[in-house]
Amino acid sequence: MTPTFTHKIPADNLDTRSQIFQGQTFIGDSNEVSLKLIENVKNLIAEKLETDDIRRAHLTLSDDDFFQRMGELRRVFYLEGSYHQLLRDLIASYGFDPTRCAFDPMRIRVILPGGHHNPKAAPVYYAHRDTWYSHPQSLIVGWTPLHDLKEEETFEFYPEEFDSAVPNDSEIFDYADWIKDGPALKIGWQKNDSGLTGGYPQSLLETPPKEAKGFSINAGETLLFAGSQFHKTREQDLGTIRYSLDFRVVHLDDVSSDRGAPNVDNRSKGNILADYIHPVSA
Ligand SMILES: [Fe+2]
Repeated sequence: MTPTFTHKIPADNLDTRSQIFQGQTFIGDSNEVSLKLIENVKNLIAEKLETDDIRRAHLTLSDDDFFQRMGELRRVFYLEGSYHQLLRDLIASYGFDPTRCAFDPMRIRVILPGGHHNPKAAPVYYAHRDTWYSHPQSLIVGWTPLHDLKEEETFEFYPEEFDSAVPNDSEIFDYADWIKDGPALKIGWQKNDSGLTGGYPQSLLETPPKEAKGFSINAGETLLFAGSQFHKTREQDLGTIRYSLDFRVVHLDDVSSDRGAPNVDNRSKGNILADYIHPVSA
């Protein structure tokens, strides 16, 4: 199925998930919860970076200083219970039952203008499937930008590769190794050279896929897609930083029913699901 980025999320969440597992993508409208979340995050970033013009903070802060400050926030968004609750509220606003869903908490992502020229950031631009990082095939990814974004500053999907194998080195990823030194590398709040040493799986295709589908999206909308989607962040040199939040959700009924997107080429080892935040009743 070619993703259509439709705004019409089905009323039945099982229908939503089933379509996602077949390659569909949805853009959930912004709502009270998502707008509150991005406002909160933007305010914290402005405070931490000591500027209201957060999209141009790279002009006044060094790379290391910027990374250090954002790393401190990354830790807060990932670990603090109040953000876990906001995430439960967010997935509920798009029809997911938070009492049946486990999640990998929110991460803040930053794409700097011209960031693709920095060797330390290379893995950010690898074509990949999120499932190559030891996530289950039932994985659904949510992605919420803090600003209105045009197609050239988001990312692109490769529909033909959704259910056909691409050469890749996902076998290098072993979740047990990834976390053995603690969560800092996993979430990226300490080492700013992890792009050079981290062992990030990537596509080994020699030429990019023929068909690429991009999308534009507005602040506080949420793109929902299968963790098996083959995709890649677009390189941008537009002069402004792109900030977004992303999170990973797995409905536990999908795991028990073996429901998910096809696994065509994922050879990563281990399973991160045990370390997701699980519903209290599960
Ligand atoms: Fe991804």
